Amino acid sequence: MEIEIGFLGLGIMGKAMSLNLLRHGFKVTVWNRTLSKCEELVEHGASIGETPAAVVKKCKYTIAMLSNPSAALSVVFEKDGVLEQICEGKGYIDMSTVGADTSSKISEAIAEKGGQFLEAPVSGSKKPAEDGQLVILAAGEKVLYEKAIPAFGVMGKKSFYLGQVGNGAKMKLVVNMVMGSMMNAFSEGLVLADSSGLSQQTLLDVLELGAIANPMFKMKGPTMIKNSYPPAFPLKHQQKDMRLALALGDENAVSMPIAAAANEVFKKARSLGFGDQDFSAVHEAVKATNPST
Ligand SMILES: NC(=O)c1ccc[n+]([C@@H]2O[C@H](COP(=O)([O-])OP(=O)(O)OC[C@H]3O[C@@H](n4cnc5c(N)ncnc54)[C@H](OP(=O)(O)O)[C@@H]3O)[C@@H](O)[C@H]2O)c1
Repeated sequence: MEIEIGFLGLGIMGKAMSLNLLRHGFKVTVWNRTLSKCEELVEHGASIGETPAAVVKKCKYTIAMLSNPSAALSVVFEKDGVLEQICEGKGYIDMSTVGADTSSKISEAIAEKGGQFLEAPVSGSKKPAEDGQLVILAAGEKVLYEKAIPAFGVMGKKSFYLGQVGNGAKMKLVVNMVMGSMMNAFSEGLVLADSSGLSQQTLLDVLELGAIANPMFKMKGPTMIKNSYPPAFPLKHQQKDMRLALALGDENAVSMPIAAAANEVFKKARSLGFGDQDFSAVHEAVKATNPST
């Protein structure tokens, strides 16, 4: 991708990813719904597009990193959206986590205009995004995937090409369904250790040395035991992913009682006001159902 890249959505992930592109010499034009968030990127050499349509008009390839299905759809279909300028010779790569149905709607509309579409959700959070260490789960137009490899190489440590549109979205939802269930089990373990008179820090040390050691427990555990949840992956997005994964389970008649229970706890955490905190704040909902802790 030697040509200027558009980037729509400068949240936690989009900001880190577009900064990486700039640092590696890509020319980037950014847009964000709250336009003031573009200023920091301009300091690093980005240009600003006033609307998604303006960005697509200027750039051969445009990447999006938006919060949820309704944001992904509105940026494409609404006034001043991507569809107004996408055409033959241009590509649109949506890296947001959405369901396969959302991706398909976007893909079909872009194809009707002669453009190319790739979905490319990512595994990895704020830190991997900052370090260019994401895992990219791409599906859609193979030709566009090949064009995107230099940019994916800067944003991620590995990219997978998974075939037809929808496969990237589904893979991402399966991964986050497992992650959300694990986070709940981990939180219950921390509460159980504390309630039974054990040191939570010692539990972290023991877990770290055994077969279920993993980077998530290692990274989130120390802050969770301090009741601190600085947002790397906002809890409202994790709950959205549980919801979308459960819908995928419905479609395929896959029974997922553990994921369903985990989703309830994420919903409770949202209702307690933790939606904008890190998803590890599900710990507060687990604690709230065990008030002696
Ligand atoms: N954070 C992570 O660890 C992580 C990891 C993997 C995947 N993801 C996925 O990546 C996506 C972005 O996550 P994030 O953590 O960067 O989220 P975030 O910090 O909440 O940022 C969300 C972005 O979406 C924009 N947005 C929201 N609603 C919109 C709308 N209706 N129209 C236009 N723009 C809208 C926001 O614009 P404003 O600034 O104007 O609000 C912001 O740029 C999500 O799908 C998430 O599930 C996140």
